[in-house]
Amino acid sequence: MTILVPAKSVLRGISTLVTVDKQSSTPLYRQIYDSYRARILSRELPAGQLVPSSRELARELRVSRLPVLNAYAQLVAEGYFESRVGSGTFVAHLIPKSPTAPLSAVVVAGASRQGRSISALAAALPTYEAPYWADNLGPFQVGQPAIDEFPLQLWSRLVSRCSRHLQSSALRYGSPMGLAELRDAIANYLRTSRGLRCEAGQIMIVSGSQQALDISTRVLLNSGARVWVEEPGYWLVHHVLTGAGCRAIPVPVDTDGINVEAGIKLCRAARAAFVAPSHQFPLGVTMSASRRLQLLNWAHSVGAWIVEDDYDSEYRYDSMPIASLQGLDDNARVIYIGTFSKVLFPSLRIGYVVIPTDLVERFAALRQSMDMCPSAENQRVVAEFIRGGHFARHIRRMRIIYADRRRVLIEELERAFGDLCTIVGTEAGMHTTIVMRGSLKDQDIAVKAMQRKLLVSPLSLAYLGSASHQGFVLGFGNTQAAQIPEGVRLLKECLAG
Ligand SMILES: Cc1ncc(COP(=O)(O)O)c(C=O)c1O
Repeated sequence: MTILVPAKSVLRGISTLVTVDKQSSTPLYRQIYDSYRARILSRELPAGQLVPSSRELARELRVSRLPVLNAYAQLVAEGYFESRVGSGTFVAHLIPKSPTAPLSAVVVAGASRQGRSISALAAALPTYEAPYWADNLGPFQVGQPAIDEFPLQLWSRLVSRCSRHLQSSALRYGSPMGLAELRDAIANYLRTSRGLRCEAGQIMIVSGSQQALDISTRVLLNSGARVWVEEPGYWLVHHVLTGAGCRAIPVPVDTDGINVEAGIKLCRAARAAFVAPSHQFPLGVTMSASRRLQLLNWAHSVGAWIVEDDYDSEYRYDSMPIASLQGLDDNARVIYIGTFSKVLFPSLRIGYVVIPTDLVERFAALRQSMDMCPSAENQRVVAEFIRGGHFARHIRRMRIIYADRRRVLIEELERAFGDLCTIVGTEAGMHTTIVMRGSLKDQDIAVKAMQRKLLVSPLSLAYLGSASHQGFVLGFGNTQAAQIPEGVRLLKECLAG
């Protein structure tokens, strides 16, 4: 029931209605408060207007006086009402007159941006689309580890053990660099398994590689800086650079990795190069030793930075993992980024940056300005996972599983496509890429495949400039070997027309 109470007598000719619905689950005081607030914001109730006394309004609404008193107290506390002793309660003068009608939350959500200014950098970012990571989009989703093989029980035990031993001192803000025990464990791991030259003090824990890319960009680069990116390359590197106002210079990737000579011809004076030398995304190539040295020499000679994204190099199938570029660098020009998204699971949101010693303080200052410090809970669990030897065991076990999935995928692709495609980047990681011969348009095929609930990522989308190859990036991390033949068969059908 809605009771409409014309409060005209007190409002001196202004027809204002305060409405309450006694059946509603919204408390009465809140309805009265909302009703007044809306009328004040819409200027139906002008500043200086006397409002009915709480007793009078309660009588007219046929409610007790308590909800009215509560609503009035809230409106006074928030500055919508002013109470003058001996004179009554008035609509406050303080509310600045808005140039347009006030927008409700709903209208704001749906508003067009026209005439409502936002930063040029935010406007320049490509349209955000809800992530496609869903179960029913087939076997080739990129970037997904085998979550069904994750040792969930063990993880839950560590989570409960860590929370059982939680002390109140652990509830404080932490260091922007992260938890000391995790930084120690990572430094150890990187020195022994990835050939890095680093101390725990150089390691910052971040919320995945993505935050590491963002922080590194903000610390190292000014808006307008020109930056080498691999062509084709990782789309979210492009977004970070766009968001920071940097100019990405696409430098072609060949079988040895980024072509440094081509980069020098295109823009010798670039301020940085963003590369994934162990397992380039999406072509999967490993940067050769001579290219690594060439890249380091270039960076040293022009004073540029190298951002090394080492996102999935733990999984290498025919040799030991490739040593990092950072380990070769004598001039502290490399910022090394790693993540647990692939080796553990992506929702964990824990990654790390290895920072040259002289920049650690600037990285810490920037990180503090962003989000103070990483959340402590999961850091503790990851540290336990590494220290208990589970991490090394997990990687060994997963490498065998992925190797099998990769073998089946390659066999099926060779059988289905033969000479029609070249399979690249199979030495490492959890995806492989096929480069198609002929004149097909990979984006058209991907649309067709999507209609059949098969997600394939078109290679051409990974180019900033015009795509020199058409093909597909096929993830196999979260795909059981038995699902692969059917996925390849479907893809073949989509290619056939
Ligand atoms: C090239 C590349 N870098 C980094 C990542 C990992 O990102 P994050 O650590 O933010 O989950 C991915 C994930 O797919 C990737 O493809």
